[in-house]
Amino acid sequence: MAEKKTMENIIAWAKRRGFVFPSSDIYGGFSAVYDLGPYGVELSNNIKNAWWKTMVQEREDVVGLDSSIFMNAKVWEASGHTTGFSDPLVECKKCHSRLRADTMLEDIGVSADEKMAVEEIQKKFTDNVKKLKCPNCGNQKFTDLKKFNLLVQSNLGNFTSDWTKEPVYLRGETCQGVYVNYKNVIDSSRVKIPFGIAQIGKAFRNEITARQFIFRTREFEQMEMQYFIHPDMTDEEYDKLREDRWQFYLNLGIDKKNLRWQEHKNLVFYAKKAFDIEYNFPFGFKELEGLHARGDWDLSRHGEFSGQDLTYLDPITKEKYIPNVIESSAGVGRTFLAIVSESYVEEEVGDGTRIVMKFPRKLAPVKIAIFPLLKNKPELVTKAKEVFDSLKTKYMCEFDDNGNIGKRYRRQDEIGTPYCVTIDFDTLEKGNVTIRDRDTMEQESIKLEDLEKYLAEKLK
Ligand code: GAP
Repeated sequence: MAEKKTMENIIAWAKRRGFVFPSSDIYGGFSAVYDLGPYGVELSNNIKNAWWKTMVQEREDVVGLDSSIFMNAKVWEASGHTTGFSDPLVECKKCHSRLRADTMLEDIGVSADEKMAVEEIQKKFTDNVKKLKCPNCGNQKFTDLKKFNLLVQSNLGNFTSDWTKEPVYLRGETCQGVYVNYKNVIDSSRVKIPFGIAQIGKAFRNEITARQFIFRTREFEQMEMQYFIHPDMTDEEYDKLREDRWQFYLNLGIDKKNLRWQEHKNLVFYAKKAFDIEYNFPFGFKELEGLHARGDWDLSRHGEFSGQDLTYLDPITKEKYIPNVIESSAGVGRTFLAIVSESYVEEEVGDGTRIVMKFPRKLAPVKIAIFPLLKNKPELVTKAKEVFDSLKTKYMCEFDDNGNIGKRYRRQDEIGTPYCVTIDFDTLEKGNVTIRDRDTMEQESIKLEDLEKYLAEKLK
């Protein structure tokens, strides 16, 4: 039932079933930071593996990289983040809550985003202030707007007491680690333009307001691919990347009616052209991934600030130029939330309501659950363990002998396990096992010796 797919239900399910926990939960949590539980880490890894397979393994023109979270502080000066990477902040004059002016405007239907000039957002804010309220205390008086830099600082390697004068930063986007390794990759591998460098990793942003569960967090993971091209190729390559990225989400099982393109009217400082893919989350259409034509901004700036020559010499035409970059930048957490929102179903069945996560099989955290019918019959338990041991090397499996079979099925439905295999007396006497399908709830009896082949076919 679609109306049950609310954020409240999803957040409760995510904690109850071991997908997402608030960070440092026993201490009351830590704002805008979350941990992945036993099933959450499997789902997240499956999403990242699907991305890596499409982006690196199946392409001849893209290589991978894993750069560090910490970099020389000059990287962030060159990239423009120390000065240009900020959100518009206002403070409630009564309760001193710090709020994002652009999202407050958006919430009352006034278009605004963080890329607008301070003066423009301030004007919109002043014009609409009678309609704006502090979400925490309801007050309508706010300070003037100022830009708040999102980079997270650290004292790593600095042992002085006034380290804030020379901070290092936790990376605000993973792609800067790619640009500063561009020359190393060119020098050490056989790549030729056009080619891409892909990376998955953590990024950190001091987001002013944390909202909508794992949608906007202060620590998150990005899956980014930077494609280096000749400037003349921009339009053609940008369109190709748009098609590929759209298809990626369809291949993950997302219904196309829940996806849409959104062009940026106000461009962020590095972008020449930008489109987002938005997903229809339970709180409406919001950004899932950004596709940016970054021109030669990044390599030119890093060339200038580092004093290194980052021009490319075309081996055939002998033309020398700074490559342009087209970027695909997706959030792991947002893809996770989109997949969860898409898969969460509550349906009426004979004996009540069941919650079932209809994950695409390749993303399901556990592929097969194996049950002995009765836990107090050692011969059934031993046989079920044998079956579990034979399957666990190929698939993520779970052995469960707790509670009655009906309860075990419901639990597996809630974590989205596509198949449950039950070992009963028929297995011992006739060599048959019962397979139950998550989506149809139908049960089938097959020969144990055919089980592996059957599952391989279903899960391929
Ligand atoms: N390198 C370009 C870049 O970082 P972005 O639009 O700022 O562009 C790209 O971020 C993607 O990273 C977003 O589409 C989103 O999926 C994810 N993302 C950004 N900020 C996030 C946050 N605070 N929490 C979770 N995901 C975030």
